[in-house]
Amino acid sequence: MDVNEREGTAPGLASRGNRIMLHESRPLPETAKCTRCRKRAVIALPSHHANFCEECFVFFFRRAVLRAMKKFPVKADETILVAVSGGKDSLAAWAVLQDLGYRTKGVHLNLGIPGFSEASEEAVAAFAGKRNLPWVGYSIEAVFGYSIPDIRRRVRRPICSVCGMIKRQLLNRVTIREGLRVIATGHNLDDEAGRLLGNLVRNRRDYIEKQSPYLPSAHPRLPEKIKPLYRVSADEIRTYCRVRGIAYLEGACPLSRGATSHMFKDALDMLEGKMPGTKRDFLFAYLDARPAPKAVEDFGTCEQCGEPCYGTRCSVCTLLDRLREAPGREKRRDASIPPE
Ligand code: AMP
Ligand code: FES
Ligand code: ZN
Repeated sequence: MDVNEREGTAPGLASRGNRIMLHESRPLPETAKCTRCRKRAVIALPSHHANFCEECFVFFFRRAVLRAMKKFPVKADETILVAVSGGKDSLAAWAVLQDLGYRTKGVHLNLGIPGFSEASEEAVAAFAGKRNLPWVGYSIEAVFGYSIPDIRRRVRRPICSVCGMIKRQLLNRVTIREGLRVIATGHNLDDEAGRLLGNLVRNRRDYIEKQSPYLPSAHPRLPEKIKPLYRVSADEIRTYCRVRGIAYLEGACPLSRGATSHMFKDALDMLEGKMPGTKRDFLFAYLDARPAPKAVEDFGTCEQCGEPCYGTRCSVCTLLDRLREAPGREKRRDASIPPE
């Protein structure tokens, strides 16, 4: 099925084996009381030294997202484009933004990974259908002429970083094409803390300075970027999905096995297990101590495709040129988004 520029919703979620899952939480003793309302607690949040009933957990979770949203300069009546992969984080982000009353539109990029990409798109379509939310789908292969597995076969670099670069550029382009100003992603507390640790270990100062839950636009063709879930952990998101009946695609991308980002997250999980609250302290202490990020000023414009870049040619055009030179089947010469 060609999902390039497909609008709409799907009637139901065709589950593939047991891959689309509803998460189950750990049991608490029957005597445990909700920290907020004193009714029976069923959800333990050691990092907050709190136990909650389901209703108060939903309150707690939404309040954390609202707290994040208040830090971002988003106008109450503007539509936020939400980048949805079909996983727990981005679907939860979309759900909470809708529940908090924000206007949203989803965008899903089909990466062309057999099995995984179809299941991802089904999860997005089913979620949008259930909540009557608008969304658009784009296919990486239809836009660039190569699917992610095609690219993986042709380049030596780790596919996750190449894929991330392509997704970032296409999401920027789609936001502008949709006439919108702000794009939200599902990055959570674990992602942000893991990334910070990785950047510190490798002393990547440029990346560290740019790491933020909010990034202003640095170019007329770049949207503002927000991460509404940066204050909630992956476990809290799983619980939120279970409580709110959000069916998401479980499991990482099959091409991402061995990515070093998982190891930094694992290291933080180990510390969190021994000292609950460590992940939040680590990330928030860093974010609180630094000035708000400024728009990067040294952005140029790619002379080949017109997209923002450092220097004169963007990394996507550089990659595409290299792919076209490589032996293989003939591909499209341009990387424009095909007309509707
Ligand atoms: P990842 O880099 O895969 O951890 O994804 C980070 C965020 O990027 C997700 O939470 C989504 O908001 C967004 N994202 C990842 N993959 C896709 C996709 N295929 N389509 C749309 N958004 C995506
Ligand atoms: Fe991009 Fe897996 S999601 S390589
Ligand atoms: Zn370019």
